Amino acid sequence: MVRRLGVMTGGGDCPGLNAVLRAVVKTAMVKYGYEVIGFRDGYRGLVLNDYVHFKSGDVSGILDKGGTILGSSNRDNPFKFRVENNGKVNYVDMSDKAMENVNAHGIDCMIIIGGDGTLTSARDFSRKGMNVIGVPKTIDNDLSATDTTFGFMTAVDTATEAIDKLHSTAESHHRVMILEVMGRYAGWIALTAGIAGGADVILIPEIEYDIKKVADSILQRKVEGKHFSIVVVAEGAKEIKGELTVSKVDESSPDPIRLGGVGNKVAAEIEKLTGIETRVTVLGHLQRGGRPNPYDRVLSTRYGVKAVELANEGKFGLMVSLRGNEVTAEPLEDAVGTLKQVPPDGEMVCIAKSVGVGFGD
Ligand code: F6P
Repeated sequence: MVRRLGVMTGGGDCPGLNAVLRAVVKTAMVKYGYEVIGFRDGYRGLVLNDYVHFKSGDVSGILDKGGTILGSSNRDNPFKFRVENNGKVNYVDMSDKAMENVNAHGIDCMIIIGGDGTLTSARDFSRKGMNVIGVPKTIDNDLSATDTTFGFMTAVDTATEAIDKLHSTAESHHRVMILEVMGRYAGWIALTAGIAGGADVILIPEIEYDIKKVADSILQRKVEGKHFSIVVVAEGAKEIKGELTVSKVDESSPDPIRLGGVGNKVAAEIEKLTGIETRVTVLGHLQRGGRPNPYDRVLSTRYGVKAVELANEGKFGLMVSLRGNEVTAEPLEDAVGTLKQVPPDGEMVCIAKSVGVGFGD
């Protein structure tokens, strides 16, 4: 019998987190009469017992708000928790402390909203005996056990709008405009927004590029009388036999590599090879902020409701997931650790190529 749920949002934020929280709290409190405890700032709150006891009014008016009212963190791994003592840093397993806190609150099930890192810890808590249900979040859309993560489509909207705006200025000045987008080791944002925005070249991690071929396709456009080009570059794109472009190594983070900067590299090379003036826009965290679009509001709501339904049925150790048009669930054991990348010969790449997009391959 479930009476009390816990909920937290972990990892990098994305649009739709509040919509999931709203769906969880409303369904749990109104439909089933459960109590809901929210832990602040991801696993940090679970370890330090920093929590809020939700009242139903707490989630009113947040459906369309970006960010997360609970806060989040992409630096706190409860199994390797950073502890600083007199300036000395140690990494300590605090998972028992987190379990203790959950038990002390009498929580029957934790709903953990996060990407691969957060859900890997959720899987590990499940192995330790905690009742857990995961909800897949990330703008990168790189989780293998769901067709779509919430937050992704809003990031695609933001990137598409940026491409639309770059088009007009590129055309006026006869320039090459580069847009660098996020996505980590997957090219979903670049590919989807690139197709939606009519990009001429899309560079993604899954297809290593030859810069000469990229330059050739831009020069070919010039021959055809098109004096501007739009190039969308995923932050994880790299040249054939090349290296990833890393902007920062953050040793205090469980996932220390921060990608960034490949757009500048590509721009310098294109300008050199084509002689066409080239400018770069790095979209950055704009892709993570702001209001979720209607698609993400609906998907987040479906995920939040499904998570509570599963808890009510006593089905734990699962992650809610979208397969086709159906919201279903997959074991957390199978849901983490496998990166979902763009298939280089898949339908999306093929249709882009059919309409003339170059991938530098
Ligand atoms: O995973 C989401 C994401 O926005 C990636 O696309 C990006 O590489 C990374 O997080 C940025 O992390 P941070 O917010 O720590 O800079």
